[in-house]
Amino acid sequence: MRRIALLHGPNLNMLGRRPSQHYGTLTLPELEARVRAWGEERGMRVSPFQTNHEGAFLEHVHGLAGVVDGAIVNPGAWTHYQWSIRDALEVMGAPFVEVHLSDVEAREPHRRVSVVRDIALAAVWGKGPDGYRDALDLLARERPS
Ligand code: DQA
Repeated sequence: MRRIALLHGPNLNMLGRRPSQHYGTLTLPELEARVRAWGEERGMRVSPFQTNHEGAFLEHVHGLAGVVDGAIVNPGAWTHYQWSIRDALEVMGAPFVEVHLSDVEAREPHRRVSVVRDIALAAVWGKGPDGYRDALDLLARERPS
């Protein structure tokens, strides 16, 4: 089984209470269960993690180096400015797909900036939960190292 980390940054534990026109109505546990099930269908074991704390995120990502075959990462607002997250994902060394539930290209200008995009395998946005399924498909195409 391919091992895939599912990583969420700040405020994503508040899904279900955030503006539904951007984020829909699923809660994070519901989203994680959906992604886990999609992973199983593809022979992937999905391990979710969410935190609102930068240091906890960094240390979790450090621990994934050599342990996972890939990752799906929604860094939330950190996407737009948090260079330490980018550096940690680089240390992780596994291919990752950047995912956003909302259409970050069609919202405020600051959301068009991503400090992780150029080291990501791909980025998916504006597709709601289905974007995570696309991310699994993109990771499934990668050859295991
Ligand atoms: C988000 C988009 C970010 O701009 C925002 O800060 C989030 C969620 C998304 O999934 O659409 O917290 O990453």
